[in-house]
Amino acid sequence: MWGGRFSGTIDEHMARFNNSFAFDHRMWDEDIRGSMAWARQLAHAGILTPDELLAILRGLETVRAEFAKRHFVVHPSDEDIHTAVERRLTEIVGDVAGKLHTGRSRNDQVATDTRLWTLGALRRVECALRDVQNALLTQAEAAKTALMPGYTHLQRAQPVLTTHWLLSHFWRLERDHARLVECLERTSTLPLGSGALAGTSLDIDRSVLAKDLGFNAISFNSLDAVSDRDFIVEWLFCAAMIGVHLSQLAEDLIIYSSTEFGFVTLDEAFATGSSLMPQKKNPDSLELTRGKAGRLIGNLVTLLTLLKGLPSTYNKDLQEDKEPLFDAVDTLELTLPVVAGVIRTSRFHYNRMREALDDGMLATDVADYLVEHGVPFREAHRVVGVLVSEAETRQVQLSKLSLEVYRAVHPAFDDDIYMVFNLDRSAAARRVPGATSAEAVQEQLKQARACLRET
Ligand code: ARG
Repeated sequence: MWGGRFSGTIDEHMARFNNSFAFDHRMWDEDIRGSMAWARQLAHAGILTPDELLAILRGLETVRAEFAKRHFVVHPSDEDIHTAVERRLTEIVGDVAGKLHTGRSRNDQVATDTRLWTLGALRRVECALRDVQNALLTQAEAAKTALMPGYTHLQRAQPVLTTHWLLSHFWRLERDHARLVECLERTSTLPLGSGALAGTSLDIDRSVLAKDLGFNAISFNSLDAVSDRDFIVEWLFCAAMIGVHLSQLAEDLIIYSSTEFGFVTLDEAFATGSSLMPQKKNPDSLELTRGKAGRLIGNLVTLLTLLKGLPSTYNKDLQEDKEPLFDAVDTLELTLPVVAGVIRTSRFHYNRMREALDDGMLATDVADYLVEHGVPFREAHRVVGVLVSEAETRQVQLSKLSLEVYRAVHPAFDDDIYMVFNLDRSAAARRVPGATSAEAVQEQLKQARACLRET
């Protein structure tokens, strides 16, 4: 393909080092679509006669069918997907195939194919992400007004609605979704027509080409267009962030499904047993989800490192962009349906969650009581601290201390203090938007449902 200036043959190790067909063959459909659109522009520019265009399009259809049926036979000289398709096209239609690469370079070709592939893949990931959000929303609705302990530092902090906790994971994924949509938008820029680096001299219409291939825009600068891989970095950040968010959800569920917590039981379809300990039921689905975040972060770092300090414009380093890109897509296409399945099939034990609540979690509410009676919050905090320590010494709950004890610590206490020890009332008092009262959470559910309706 580039043999004209060379007299010898390539070293065998170098060939293996150089060839990317083993992984970039995945872009066969995009490569063929790109070539078909390019051929139509070549006809428009007068490079191909209508008959030649027809021959090339038919030939490309045949190559496409071979790939689709997995009949395509790789040749040792197939350096990458682009050369493989052209080599096969030549075998099918003869010399006219040699006109297809007019005004085009593998530099703008690979940039175009990769963007096309990424657009398709990101749309699939987007659907899978939406499905996880759907599963979270369904469980959030099913939890009604059930209360559970909310944690900070993994210590019991304040009672919250189970729905509130489930939706906390929904909103993280909602931001990921928004990022993905923006990434799709920026990916949808056509590099074709940039040639090797300086643009093409042919009379082609890049806007028509963009429309033909489904791109929203055309690149502004050919030097930039052949080397711009920002869209992959952005995607890999999206993927890493999704991975991190899923790992956090996984960790919550791993902890909550332990015997010690008992808040949730995972379905057997998403757990495995131990080869040694017959009693074990392990949350492997969630542990793998937690683990996959590592490789997603790794892929992002790989690409940033690859791009750092590259000189203008195309450099062969860029061939290394595809494996991290593909791996992130594969990883999430594998992970997201599992996470959705785990969430859908999990059984939440609202009674156990409720039992895990204790009056000690209402210490803030006791402080709020004093604040309502005109005590500055800092002072109220100190007073309740003394009461908590008193309860600990006497080994009783905060609510079981006598009014004398309360009044001895602060005179603002009266016998209505015991009304504070009502877990539902505590949650219900947190009414501002975004808080955990039933009404605020209803509003949140409405907003979450609206997000899912939008797409
Ligand atoms: N296989 C190459 C890649 O993935 C295609 C571009 C090669 N261009 C070149 N000038 N050698 O980046």
